Amino acid sequence: MSSTPLSFIFFFYLLISSSSWLWRFSSGAGFNLTTIAFDDGYNPLFGDFNLVRSPDGRSVRLLLDVSSGSGFISSSMYEHGFFSAKIKLPSDYTAGVVVALYASNGDVFEKNHDELDIEFLGNVEGKPWRFQTNLYGNGSTSRGREERYRLWFDPSKEFHRYSILWTAKNIIFYVDEVPIREVVRSDEMGGDYPTKPMSIYATIWDASSWATNGGKIKVNYDYAPFTADFKELVLEGCPMDPIQEYPDFTTCKEKDAWLETRNFAVLTPKRRSAMRKFRQHYMYYSCCYDVWRYPVKLPDCVIDPIEKARFNETGRLRFSGSHKKQAKIAKARRKKKQRAASKERTEM
Ligand SMILES: *[C@@H]1O[C@H](CO)[C@@H](O)[C@H](O)[C@H]1NC(C)=O
Ligand SMILES: *[C@@H]1O[C@H](CO)[C@@H](O)[C@H](O)[C@H]1NC(C)=O
Ligand SMILES: *[C@@H]1O[C@H](CO)[C@@H](O)[C@H](O)[C@H]1NC(C)=O
Repeated sequence: MSSTPLSFIFFFYLLISSSSWLWRFSSGAGFNLTTIAFDDGYNPLFGDFNLVRSPDGRSVRLLLDVSSGSGFISSSMYEHGFFSAKIKLPSDYTAGVVVALYASNGDVFEKNHDELDIEFLGNVEGKPWRFQTNLYGNGSTSRGREERYRLWFDPSKEFHRYSILWTAKNIIFYVDEVPIREVVRSDEMGGDYPTKPMSIYATIWDASSWATNGGKIKVNYDYAPFTADFKELVLEGCPMDPIQEYPDFTTCKEKDAWLETRNFAVLTPKRRSAMRKFRQHYMYYSCCYDVWRYPVKLPDCVIDPIEKARFNETGRLRFSGSHKKQAKIAKARRKKKQRAASKERTEM
């Protein structure tokens, strides 16, 4: 008689059940999105020679080589919306490379701009991409609201959908159909909640100074060009001129109402549960637990005890790296102590 088969079955059950809650949301079928051709919503922004449209005009490739990165920008600015693309990130060695999908009005409002970010941070070969979300409102650049996460798949292997929903009530970031972060607008947030019309951007660029291990590892152009592919672009929002003298906010009422009834605007109990689980497993930094940076909690922070338990007093992950690695470090420490102790004894 042996208990091995049973424990094996249990192990595989755990393996399957632990990831199935995310896989279920990865089909992308539920959002019912209308996609556009690149030229119907976007223009090249910089590094035009490193921006390559597909023959059918519905997909676009952004390249980063030693001469330049590249990027595109929406032809209109939008007051609220759902901004989304399927993206495949560069593979292999990508340290120092950043690929971003974001909304901003920094060109129009230099001192009090608004911004919503999804930024992918490249890594050395064999180590996974990571990504962060962030938001600013009315120039709140001294109050960054960064969160950083791992992914449950390799984003350089196939396309996945990344989305930003921005309404008058809340902001939701999505990976496929998994909501990963919700920011609910409140009076306490004041101007920190983005309110002015924004352009939508996608870029690839050299962020050697900060992207990987805090800037210790730079872009290595032996691996260039780095290519990021974008397809099935979605640009739903209320187009608005940000500097009208008499902005007519009623023009966006209809589109706002339409947005709020869409599938992606509804956080069902199932979706909320997936969001909670994603955050408890894959988030490795949040401004909300960083009490060195924010001794007074930001008003939009919702503290989840299980999330919180993962971080120490300074907001850093308690267990960075694998448990194996932790065990190795602990063992090395014990040995060092033992050596020191025996040295002390022999000297006595
Ligand atoms: C998908 O969206 C279109 C256009 O908004 C709508 O006409 C259609 O009924 C929707 N389909 C489903 C299954 O919700
Ligand atoms: C935005 O910032 C400007 C200038 O810094 C300030 O005058 C204004 O009151 C702010 N608006 C909000 C909604 O906080
Ligand atoms: C918190 O964790 C970080 C990373 O593991 C570590 O460097 C730091 O010393 C820890 N700080 C405290 C106060 O425990």
